Amino acid sequence: METWLRELPKVELHLHIEGSLEPELMFSLAARNNVALPYDTVDEVRAAYDFSNLQSFLDLYYQGMRVLHTEQDFHDLAMAYLERAHEEGVVHVELSFDPQAHLNRGVELAIPFEGLRRAMRDAQRRWGMTTALIMSFLRDRDASEAMDVLEKAAPFYESIDAVGLDSAEVGNPPAKFAAVFERAKALGIPRVAHAGEEGPAAYISEALDVLDICRVDHGVACLQDETLLERLRESQVPLTVCPLSNVRLKVVPTMADHPLPAMIEQGVKVTLNSDDPAYFGGGVLNNYLACFEAFDWDRELFKQLAGNAIEVAFMSEARRSELL
Ligand code: HPA
Ligand code: ZN
Repeated sequence: METWLRELPKVELHLHIEGSLEPELMFSLAARNNVALPYDTVDEVRAAYDFSNLQSFLDLYYQGMRVLHTEQDFHDLAMAYLERAHEEGVVHVELSFDPQAHLNRGVELAIPFEGLRRAMRDAQRRWGMTTALIMSFLRDRDASEAMDVLEKAAPFYESIDAVGLDSAEVGNPPAKFAAVFERAKALGIPRVAHAGEEGPAAYISEALDVLDICRVDHGVACLQDETLLERLRESQVPLTVCPLSNVRLKVVPTMADHPLPAMIEQGVKVTLNSDDPAYFGGGVLNNYLACFEAFDWDRELFKQLAGNAIEVAFMSEARRSELL
């Protein structure tokens, strides 16, 4: 089954590129940029990845990305991930990034944009891999800061496939970003948002109502609300679920407790993704394998989930028909 799952053409819709930073690359970029790290060895870094919740992860995630300074750093980070994804049989990757987490350390917007775009072009040339770029806003910061970033990103609108919303969810409801998402909509930019990861089902409904999103990132809290379930079933709005992330961040105790089988049973359109592969136990293939081990799903189901992601990806219709 592992060989078959590796060879199945897979699409990744939920990936924070800063969360793909492996400890080895963290050390080499730290050396390149003269950044001090609070660790001496790769093993020490990995040992620190023992999270109790989303915030405990975010603290290390923001700390780790401090090694990223130049366009070349962002290029190398993305290239390293895209190569691993290619080896796992991933044929299309949608990269999210957090410009505010870089701007706030003095790294100008053009740096991640140019570095990531160059890696995306290289991946297309080398492997025929297609990609999309999602610019995410940090929901635990003021909405005015997100609005400023959206305006500042004007020279790059052509390279933005969607805007997203991530970081600490509880206490930062979707409606806080109503004006930002309205502006993105007016600009013709598609919208996605994390909702119902640690937050309640009500945040999923609110993100659909107020932010007019076309995909929900995570959404695992949807089972709490019958009305929402009915809505997700009817609309077939897709959920980008990241099972290994949910276990590592203690959203669910173990893979066996994961709500994915129930969500599928309820007719919700789900896809399988990695979220932050360096921190949560691997990329898309490992997430597929973890589901196989926990739920013993058959090939038909995996084909359907991979197909769901192809159907709802930000890709040209020509590429979609090639993959479907
Ligand atoms: N949840 C919310 N924000 C994030 C995550 C996540 O899993 N990863 C990076 N930013
Ligand atoms: Zn995420």
